[in-house]
Amino acid sequence: MLLQERKFEVAEIIHQYKWLRSNGYPVRLATIAKLRKMYNRDKAYHCFIKYQYTLEGKDIVFLVDRMTNILPSEYDFFNQSFSLSHIHSKKWICENISVDDKRVLVACGWHGLLPLFLCHFSKPKEVVSVDIDPTCKEIVEKLTRYMPVKAITDDIFNIDYSDYDIIMNTSCEHIDFEKWLELIPKGKTVVLQSTNYEIPEHINPMKNLDEFVQRTKIDIKSKGTGVFTDKYKRFMIIGEKNGKNII
Ligand SMILES: C[S@@+](CC[C@H](N)C(=O)[O-])C[C@H]1O[C@@H](n2cnc3c(N)ncnc32)[C@H](O)[C@@H]1O
Repeated sequence: MLLQERKFEVAEIIHQYKWLRSNGYPVRLATIAKLRKMYNRDKAYHCFIKYQYTLEGKDIVFLVDRMTNILPSEYDFFNQSFSLSHIHSKKWICENISVDDKRVLVACGWHGLLPLFLCHFSKPKEVVSVDIDPTCKEIVEKLTRYMPVKAITDDIFNIDYSDYDIIMNTSCEHIDFEKWLELIPKGKTVVLQSTNYEIPEHINPMKNLDEFVQRTKIDIKSKGTGVFTDKYKRFMIIGEKNGKNII
């Protein structure tokens, strides 16, 4: 990207922040100052502008505030884990299930976007984010500071799921999810997402929502297909682990 374009984008963010402030949103001047500091260094800022198509002003303020806990030294990954399609897909979950007073386990929690959104859009008792990648824990902890979120570095195939009310996994395309589902005790609420995106790290992409439904042996309460990028579709299933598939 040309330097001039990048400058334009940062200027746009600052403009947007000022607009938000003048419209009564509680944007902290410190956040604007941080954004200014990131000038010429930040590789993630262009996401911020895109967020306005997905999030309300107050939610953008919240998210960017949280992201500045981490930026600018660790920002490289934000182009991916905080991309517009991930923002859409995690918000999609929050719009379809409340986790108020629940203990939630997020399997393959990555950099913590879903735990962050769960705490922002609901009031969970606890969210535990599990990822096998040891670099994720610290990022999740910084991002969700002072929230009831705990990050664990472990293989999701090693976890005891009996203490949680709701188990979420938005990375079913990355794992043998049918084998993993066997570890979830009966009666637990399960939220799953997968995609039809075929890249080498996706060992288990789904052709379509029907295939995902057929292979997911749970009592399905709701399901859907989301199109948040032109690269792939995202499928979501919310249900209860009971060993059968009622749809
Ligand atoms: C790259 S993200 C994929 C993003 C995903 N589609 C989403 O919406 O969140 C996949 C994450 O799953 C994690 N992961 C893969 N296999 C795992 C396992 N067996 N146990 C724990 N984490 C795992 C990876 O470390 C990575 O952080």
